[in-house]
Formats: sequence, C-alpha cells, structure tokens
Amino acid sequence: MANPRIRALTWWRKWAKRDWAIAAVGFTIILFALTLLFDSRNPDLNSTDDLIPLTLLRRAKATGAFCLDGSLPAYHFQKGFGSGSNNWVLHIEGGGWCNSIESCNDRKRTALGSSNYMDQLVEFSGILSGHPSQNPDFYNWNKVKIRYCDGASFAGHPESQFKNGTKLFFRGQLIWEAIMDEVLSLGLSNAKEALLSGCSAGGLATLIHCDDFRDHLPKDATVKCLADAGFFLDEPDILGNRTMRAFYHDVVQLQGTAKSLHKNCVGRMEPSKCFFPQEIVKNVRTPLFIVNPAYDFWQIQHILVPDASDPHGYWSRCRLNIQKCNSSQIETLQGFRNSLLKALSELQQRKEVGMFINSCFIHCQTLMAETWHSPNSPRINDKEQTIAESVGDWYFNRKVSKQIDCPYPCNPTCYNMDFTRSL
Ligand SMILES: *[C@@H]1O[C@H](CO)[C@@H](O)[C@H](O)[C@H]1NC(C)=O
Ligand SMILES: *[C@@H]1O[C@H](CO)[C@@H](O)[C@H](O)[C@H]1NC(C)=O
Ligand SMILES: *[C@@H]1O[C@H](CO)[C@@H](O)[C@H](O)[C@H]1NC(C)=O
Repeated sequence: MANPRIRALTWWRKWAKRDWAIAAVGFTIILFALTLLFDSRNPDLNSTDDLIPLTLLRRAKATGAFCLDGSLPAYHFQKGFGSGSNNWVLHIEGGGWCNSIESCNDRKRTALGSSNYMDQLVEFSGILSGHPSQNPDFYNWNKVKIRYCDGASFAGHPESQFKNGTKLFFRGQLIWEAIMDEVLSLGLSNAKEALLSGCSAGGLATLIHCDDFRDHLPKDATVKCLADAGFFLDEPDILGNRTMRAFYHDVVQLQGTAKSLHKNCVGRMEPSKCFFPQEIVKNVRTPLFIVNPAYDFWQIQHILVPDASDPHGYWSRCRLNIQKCNSSQIETLQGFRNSLLKALSELQQRKEVGMFINSCFIHCQTLMAETWHSPNSPRINDKEQTIAESVGDWYFNRKVSKQIDCPYPCNPTCYNMDFTRSL
C-alpha cells in the first residue's frame, strides 16, 4: 500500500509548488489512497456490494450545467431499504478550488474538472456505508455521492466564463440545481428525513446550499446539514500574509460566486469574505453539525503555512507531521486552534447546532470507516461517542452534541496522519 501513497504525495508536492489550488487534487488522491489503506486492514469493508456505479447527469444538458471542461456532471446513487426507504443522505465530494484560468485549465484534465476522468465505481464507506456496524444510523438510507467538477464549491456562474479565449465552463450553481432536480425525481421529494453532507470544498458547498436544500423538501421533513472539514478560516499565514483571503478573492472573482452567496453578506462586505464559513453560517437557518479537526492538515499546509510562507523549509517536517513540530511551532498551532474556536463561538450558542472539534492532525473524517465509526475512531474527553454516534445523537435529538477536545497532544484516540513517513 505504500507505493500509491508515495506517488500521490510526490505528485501532490510538485503541483503544490506551481499552484497550491491544484494541491487539492493530490489531496483527494491521498485521501483515496488512505481509504484503501484503511480498508485493506478491515476485511469486512471489501465487499463488492459497496462499489457504486457512476451515473451521468443527462438532464444537465438542457440547462448547460457542465463540468469545467463541458462534460456532464455525475453522481453515484444507492437505494435505501427497510426503515430507511424514505430517508436520504447526500454527500458532496471535496477537492479544493481553482483560482485562475491556468489552474482551472489544469483541473479540466482531472476527475475534479471532467467526468471523462471519473472512476466508474466508487466505494461507499463511512457516512455512506451500507453496513450497520460501520454506519449505525444511516446505513439503510438512500445515499447519493455528488461528484465535484466545477472548481468553486458548486457556486460558479456562467457570466464569468470564456475569459481570454479559454474554453472553461463556470456552471457550479447550475450543476447544483440540476443535481437537486435529479435527486428529487429519484424520491428525495418525498423524503421524511434528509441530511446534506460534504467534505472539504464539499463541506463548504454544503454550507452554501444548505438552506436551498431544505427549501426543496417537504415542510414536515426533518432536514439537517453536516459540514466535514469545511470550516476554512480567514486567518493570516505565519508571515502575516492573508494568503487564504487572497485565494478566495481570486476564486470568487474568476467564477462569479457572489451570486450564490447570501445577499445579507455580499451587501455588507467584500464578497470573497462571504465565501468563508464563519460568515456563511450566520445566515443558515437549517440545523448544522460541524465536524472539524482543530489541526486540520489541509488548513495548516495551505492557510497557516503555505509553501511561499516558509522559503527556508523550517516548517517542512512539522506541517507534514504534527509530532515533528517544536514547542514554538506548537504554540503557533495552538493559536490557529484558538482562532477556530473563536470563529465557532457564535455557532456554539445556537441550540440546534452540533459540533465535533477533535484535536487531531487530519482533514475529512466522515467518509473513512476508521474515523467515522470503528473501535479505533477518535473520541473526545473520554466520552464514548464516535463521530457517527455524535452526529446521530444530534440528528435524532437524542442529546445535544457539542464536543470540543482539549488541545494537542491530549487526545490518545487521534489518528494523526504522518506524511513524512513515506518520503
Ligand atoms: C486576460 O488577458 C489580459 C491581457 O493579457 C490580462 O490582463 C487579464 O488578467 C487576463 N484575464 C484573465 C482572467 O486571465
Ligand atoms: C508576505 O509577507 C512578506 C512580509 O510581510 C512580504 O515581504 C511578502 O512579499 C509576502 N508574500 C506574499 C506571497 O504575499
Ligand atoms: C523551532 O523551529 C523554528 C524554525 O526552525 C525556530 O526558529 C525556533 O527557534 C524553534 N524553536 C524552539 C523552541 O526550538
């Protein structure tokens, strides 16, 4: 299993130098490789029943809801059964963003910009798993994995495209609408219970579209949204540069995403600030659950310590393995954790909101069996619940579930990822 990880990582680091937006593509590959790694340890997960075929969104043609390269968007669907027949869990795939013509053109030649490159079969695990042992509350629900191919969290608008003769389609919002129409026609329109979820850029998309999702469903349905590793912070990097803000500014400008953001926000401040979750959630009416590690490795590598902020490589080991950080670097990471808790403090006051903020060095945690629900999954402060159980408790109002972990390295249940091991 080491080989694909090494290849993925080397590939990813090379690209990160050219344009860190593209790093996200590599990240997806790493995540995929890790999923395989975890799965190979657990023979129970390797059943072919869990491989779900890709469906092209044919209706997208009528509205021009195309991926970056003009191909049709796509999704994977598995029908629910038994008590889950009228319930729906949707998961929006992640994979960063593209912020320039060049990086969107590069993305066009990957599965994150074109369905021509997407795998025909994907494994449904974690929150999409069909096994009660892995996914106690949602295993028999209808399940949809929405593939990400627009580069702007399903918030792009066509008015911004065809710049300088480059053929790129910015149709994220239209893709979201076409996907909704399709899934509603598959039975979502009669849902009794529904959960919209997503990881990383898909977690951001979940926050952006949560209320719209709610508004499409019956009034008496229970509808909630779960953002996994999607709480990207508007924080300066270690040199004090606003790297992430500048990056989001470019994404929002390039793809015209302001039109998908709440008017209460874009009317009051610079639209790119409204692309940050801490602003988005202020206007979300639907109950939310936030799963986010306090030391999100994607955020550490791209927001806190982007390549350009560390020309001498003082952070090169620490940003790949939290156990290699020295005491002053840990102090900087604790500052980043404090900023996350501060950004979440308003949400924490809201009764209907759930949280699982663990002190692990990881990114998405709801799609991998290992982190979602298994004997070795992360837990917080000696409480018994896995992420799956905390989300279930919140979804079904079994108990209020807002858990915030003590600072690193207090939590022995963390699976802290180590990207230096294989180098
Ligand atoms: C289009 O080209 C002009 C002139 O070369 C340049 O100034 C501008 O930034 C380009 N626009 C985009 C979106 O790349
Ligand atoms: C980051 O900040 C430093 C010092 O404030 C500045 O010299 C540098 O140009 C900035 N780098 C970038 C990539 O913005
Ligand atoms: C930690 O590493 C950084 C970068 O190499 C260095 O500047 C700093 O002095 C170190 N701090 C400690 C306490 O060793």
